[in-house]
Amino acid sequence: MPKKIKIKSKKRVRAFGEVFTPMALCREMIREGLKDDDGSKTILEPSFGNGNIILTILHERLECSKVSNLPHEALQTIYGIELQQDNVEETHNRILNYVKRWCQKYVLFADPEKGLLDGRDLDTVFEERGLELMTVTRFIFGADLNTYLNQVKAMLEFNLVQGDALTMDINTQWAGR
Ligand SMILES: C[S@@+](CC[C@H](N)C(=O)[O-])C[C@H]1O[C@@H](n2cnc3c(N)ncnc32)[C@H](O)[C@@H]1O
Repeated sequence: MPKKIKIKSKKRVRAFGEVFTPMALCREMIREGLKDDDGSKTILEPSFGNGNIILTILHERLECSKVSNLPHEALQTIYGIELQQDNVEETHNRILNYVKRWCQKYVLFADPEKGLLDGRDLDTVFEERGLELMTVTRFIFGADLNTYLNQVKAMLEFNLVQGDALTMDINTQWAGR
């Protein structure tokens, strides 16, 4: 099946070689390239565009890897540089949205005051979320979803940065703080 190539403008293609890899192709490449990965390999994407490859790696590591990681753990081994600031921001937003949806599905934010399940039994919580009993549910202690997402955002600003991969001249709001 043909895989649709995505671009933002012909001018950007000419000036920066900006052509995004279709998601279906990213999946094929990453599944093949990381088939022996146990989730511990550190990855650098040296021109990550609007994040298709990075999102695919994150998805594979959270959904398909044998290791049961939380998003912030998986993101600890994923780094990238991209020349265009708008692409960097788009990538951050896409990842944050992905992490938010993933957490809403799989993660319980445990409030130490109210207890792990907020006073409810596991069956009720699973039913609310439409989860199968066998689905792995993970717990994050002492944070609500927004606090957690802010922490993930800070990681992204540090690990996925605007810069020039040829000179490694990077512009990060966070490095060196
Ligand atoms: C062919 S696209 C690939 C994007 C992404 N890796 C993908 O597969 O969808 C190349 C990307 O490299 C970026 N780029 C071009 N020169 C760069 C440089 N010197 N340093 C970092 N990124 C660069 C462009 O902005 C563009 O987003």
